[in-house]
Amino acid sequence: MISADGISPSDETSSALRRLRALPQHDLLTLAGDWFGELAPWRSAETLGAIAGLPAERVLASLLVFGEQVTETEAREDVPGPLIDLLLDTGVLTESAGKLTAEYCLVRGDGLALFAAWRAAGRDVGSYAPWIGTDSITLARLVGARRGVGSCLDLGCGTGVLGLAAARNGANVRSVDVNPECTAATTLNAHVNGVADRVTATAGDILSLSLDERFDLVVSNPPCLPLRRGALGWLAGEAGLDGLDFFWELLSRAPGLLTDDGEALLQAAAYGDERGPFFISRLEEEVRRLGVLGRLLVRPATPPRWPAFAPRDENQQLTGPLGDEVREYVARVGATHYYGFVLSLRPGDPGLAVGRFR
Ligand SMILES: C[S@@+](CC[C@H](N)C(=O)[O-])C[C@H]1O[C@@H](n2cnc3c(N)ncnc32)[C@H](O)[C@@H]1O
Repeated sequence: MISADGISPSDETSSALRRLRALPQHDLLTLAGDWFGELAPWRSAETLGAIAGLPAERVLASLLVFGEQVTETEAREDVPGPLIDLLLDTGVLTESAGKLTAEYCLVRGDGLALFAAWRAAGRDVGSYAPWIGTDSITLARLVGARRGVGSCLDLGCGTGVLGLAAARNGANVRSVDVNPECTAATTLNAHVNGVADRVTATAGDILSLSLDERFDLVVSNPPCLPLRRGALGWLAGEAGLDGLDFFWELLSRAPGLLTDDGEALLQAAAYGDERGPFFISRLEEEVRRLGVLGRLLVRPATPPRWPAFAPRDENQQLTGPLGDEVREYVARVGATHYYGFVLSLRPGDPGLAVGRFR
């Protein structure tokens, strides 16, 4: 498990981290290929050729991009010692019988370099891993497009990607996650990206967080697995059968966390039919009740998706009582479509505008 304890701000370590950031890499989006278990498209002869030209990069890429083992002796011949030490101290690398293995991959894109778990699930730690998905990337791009943000709160920070996108533009960021592995990853990633002085990651439950501060930007990509809470027994992930438990909770808390000109960006996914997501009329009522202006951006629909990570059979159908429960729910509400969305909230004339991602 990753830990931020071993991070030392020494000059030598910082320059080693800069070197790590310069590692030739694929785009974050290629992790979507990983999700579907496909051979990552960046694993091309050209990419491999470019990486292989530089000894340190070749070793780091073998470990952190391709997940291969490298002997510690070979690694230390080519890679600066403080960097290897840092990666071992933080648990990014582990050593066994003289061989190094990367417990995390390094993904690069949009000017950020991030340590992330190889997979969101399939681990035995009982929690959501600090992982990057296409959902993280889309929201990080919206965050990165916001200028003049002085302070940012990232709720459910994972790898820290959303807060880091704001920190890169100069914001002071408070990142919160219930999973200490995620706050450690966020701290480490803040160091890797040279913004550690602006990012504070603390453990906390976003459902019971009490904060006196207000922020220019509140951002969250909360758990939204459409499963009964506790169904998987995970520390995080299930968000009720409609997948919106965390979303509604964050929606009601967000206005109290914003400065006068602040904005909240909340991302989730919802069931619906061909006309759109079912939750829009309730959302309209809520934004009026809260006295805020909401702008909802709806993504193109997919068929109702069985939640990732839940046990499935060889036909990708959810198995057992859990599968029955989800299928019954989908049939009962008449869902034929599943929509990802981002909601922007600002203090202003109460109301809801609905638009679509193009
Ligand atoms: C979908 S992931 C998003 C991570 C990251 N923000 C991103 O966009 O890649 C949801 C995150 O919320 C965290 N989380 C789940 N339940 C939480 C809770 N009750 N309080 C705080 N964080 C929570 C998980 O550990 C996970 O890191």
